[in-house]
Amino acid sequence: MTANGDDRQRILTGVRPTGALHLGHYAGALENWIRLQDEYDCHFLIADYQVSDHADDIDRVREAVIEVATDWLAVGLDPDRSHFVIESLIPEHAELTTLLSWFIGMGRLERNPTLKAEMDELEERGMSFEDTEREGKRQVVRERGAVPVAFFTYPIMQVANILMPRAHLVPVGEDQLPHIEMTRETARRFNRRFGEVFPEPRGLVGRVPRLVGTDGNAKMSKSVGNTIDLKDDAETVERKVMRMYTDPTRLRATDPGHVEGNPVFMYHDAFNPDTAEVDDLKERYREGRVGDVEVKRKLAAALNTFLDPIRERRSHYEANPAEVREALARGTEHARGVAQDTMADVRSALGLNYLDG
Ligand code: TRP
Repeated sequence: MTANGDDRQRILTGVRPTGALHLGHYAGALENWIRLQDEYDCHFLIADYQVSDHADDIDRVREAVIEVATDWLAVGLDPDRSHFVIESLIPEHAELTTLLSWFIGMGRLERNPTLKAEMDELEERGMSFEDTEREGKRQVVRERGAVPVAFFTYPIMQVANILMPRAHLVPVGEDQLPHIEMTRETARRFNRRFGEVFPEPRGLVGRVPRLVGTDGNAKMSKSVGNTIDLKDDAETVERKVMRMYTDPTRLRATDPGHVEGNPVFMYHDAFNPDTAEVDDLKERYREGRVGDVEVKRKLAAALNTFLDPIRERRSHYEANPAEVREALARGTEHARGVAQDTMADVRSALGLNYLDG
């Protein structure tokens, strides 16, 4: 039994508040989070320290914090059982990041494949800077040197996020696994030198580790603009599905088509519970006996059936934003207490408790 009277194992997981959540988040991670709420003491973190355009567009980040929490409530994460946490309201995360950065080599970060890909993407997109020398004019700078230092070190903060509540399990999308491996190594190294302070957490990837985008791109991603969002209305879903990338080798409905690797069928597999319908569509598609329009219409219908109850709950919370803030306030307060306990142990393990008797 731990100090707060809960002897379940703990989960810590989270997202960056960059905007509305989409189907990729759902199938890759959220679905697990919803399912594991009874079995585990769950901390769901909104990682606002990790948003690199913070300095640039604070209003968007503020909006996204509420947006993410609203999506969480809409899909069925339950603040009465789980803790919704805002990272920057627990400055202990920043402190633990500083302390853990003593134990993580530069090379370890440089080799992190997820970080590398994200840095490339940021560099390509460009960061905007205010050039005060030229009358405060904004400039977009596209070079490695413009990527904020905080971005390079965010995996260390993610390690701190996970170790802070001494989590045992981290359910995430596939792209996050390198960070979890780094967390395990860091915990091991710390414990070996300073005593058992942290459990070594395991990662858990969802049913669909990486959902393709509507454009056939490897990953559904807000920055690419190929998402179907949990809050999209039925018409938007219909429109996005009808424009989806499909089998490019198929020119007419009577041509035999490819089902494997076809995003439209991947979504059917992921979200259409009517497997008989999906099997029938696949068979006719392979034989050139069904047009893309029918396959897509049935997909849009399945997605809308899946999204309807989520939309309904979402509209309740949109009409009652105070409930959203309340959930965040309660969860954050609880997590701050947990963080202070951990930091007391960390400081004394490291010998930083200079003034204790
Ligand atoms: N980096 C994660 C993402 O981009 C978000 C995140 C922050 C996270 N802290 C975490 C995920 C801790 C799992 C555990 O989605």
